[in-house]
Amino acid sequence: YYLGIDIGTSGTKSLLIDSEGTVHAEASAEYPLHQPRAGWTEQDPEDWWKATIRTVRQVIQIAKCKPGDVRAIGLSGQMHGSVFLDKQDKVIRPALLWNDQRTVAECDEITTRAGGRKALIKMVANPALTGFTAPKILWLRNREPRNFDRLAKVLLPKDEIRRRLTGEYASEVSDASGTLLLDVVKRKWSKRLLSKLELDPDLLPPVYESEDVTGTLSKEAAETLGLTTDCKVVGGAGDCAAGAVGNGVVKRGILSTSVGTSGVMFVHSDTPQYDSEGRLHTFCHAVRGKWHMMGVNLTSGGALQWWVDSILQGLSGIGKKDRYQGATNEAANAAAGSGGLLFLPYLNGERTPHADPSARGAFIGLNTTHQRAEMTRAVMEGVTFALRDSLEIIRGLDVPVREIRASGGGSKNPLWRQMQADVFGKKVSTLEVEQGPAFGVALLAAVGDQAYKSIAEACKATIKVAEQTPADRKATKTYNQLYPIYQRLYGNLKEDFA
Ligand code: XUL
Repeated sequence: YYLGIDIGTSGTKSLLIDSEGTVHAEASAEYPLHQPRAGWTEQDPEDWWKATIRTVRQVIQIAKCKPGDVRAIGLSGQMHGSVFLDKQDKVIRPALLWNDQRTVAECDEITTRAGGRKALIKMVANPALTGFTAPKILWLRNREPRNFDRLAKVLLPKDEIRRRLTGEYASEVSDASGTLLLDVVKRKWSKRLLSKLELDPDLLPPVYESEDVTGTLSKEAAETLGLTTDCKVVGGAGDCAAGAVGNGVVKRGILSTSVGTSGVMFVHSDTPQYDSEGRLHTFCHAVRGKWHMMGVNLTSGGALQWWVDSILQGLSGIGKKDRYQGATNEAANAAAGSGGLLFLPYLNGERTPHADPSARGAFIGLNTTHQRAEMTRAVMEGVTFALRDSLEIIRGLDVPVREIRASGGGSKNPLWRQMQADVFGKKVSTLEVEQGPAFGVALLAAVGDQAYKSIAEACKATIKVAEQTPADRKATKTYNQLYPIYQRLYGNLKEDFA
């Protein structure tokens, strides 16, 4: 068996596959997200570890595994988070997460120290964005100097779990790309930028390719989990690249969307390509020697979650048990375009394409004919327009767009799937069984154990496209009329958000 573990923002998922890619067991456990101030998001790494133990034990029990049956583990997780460790490997303070917005000043500091935005992009392929890891380290130095004095290592969320599993400090290229400290073209830490930021390179762990074995389970971890010490742990991947592997997005021409808490539009690239304005991230892919570009929306499925859980909850006519189903069924009865009502999903600021922590959400164009159904539908359409923003940037680059695969919780909803096809003006496909990032890294574990020669071969053998949702021409026409208005709204409102 191969085990994939995904340390997500709302919870951890563990999943067990065999070498054919058949899923034998899966389990999830949730944990809280702390928001000590507006725009700050934090989690306790101990919660991730507890959820890891619980879910791994569960899948082992479900599949009735014997200890030696699990040959390798792949790790995935929310990207960019900062686990700050002292010399004794004690966590110094709660981890700052990917959607934390407190580091505006530190992003400016990085750009200045690097010699400007262009020079920075030349070193690490990306501009400084508030969610990335490097500004978090500078924030600790600037704002919590006593904590910074104790700092010995900075790990990404899944790499902290790796440390607890193997006792080793290690990362891999896809997740390391999101620290803003990796020379993405050369696939190794950027000594130049580290020196300009006056950061000690020893703060960072060695970095591997995603399928490489980084260690084996420690005696203690093996005992805790009911596994053996010859069980390997491979590099794994940040959840975006891991999800893409799980969707078979490992060659040119295939894109994927993911509608989870965040929204991601992801494209494979054989070479490290840039959007000249730095709106898309250019990161290493989990495929050896390949790259990817992606646009990330900070509030995607999270916008519908806010709308249904905070605003609609308790209202009659929406089922109590499955509020999402109730609300989206109602939205399906409203016409495409929600009667001209538009929604900006920037509830927690936005990354792609605006890179603006001050951006905020808005309903625009309300009139007295609008009902709850139009409002719910407008939320879903706004989130889909935000994905289209990334797609349009990709279309402007030298990247073929042959197929778009929809994934994530939001894409399981038939209305949202159809809406994606209609808003993109292109058919979207979904997989027979979509298991997300945990499946992607379980496949990487299988490659690391040499069950397959390459990740491309593993994907070809295990991933099947099930359903194609073609675009409805009439709806596409409506959306094509609304999209330019949606695009203009941010620019018109920007000054008032700040
Ligand atoms: C990617 C990003 C998010 C998190 C969510 O850049 O910030 O997609 O990885 O888990």
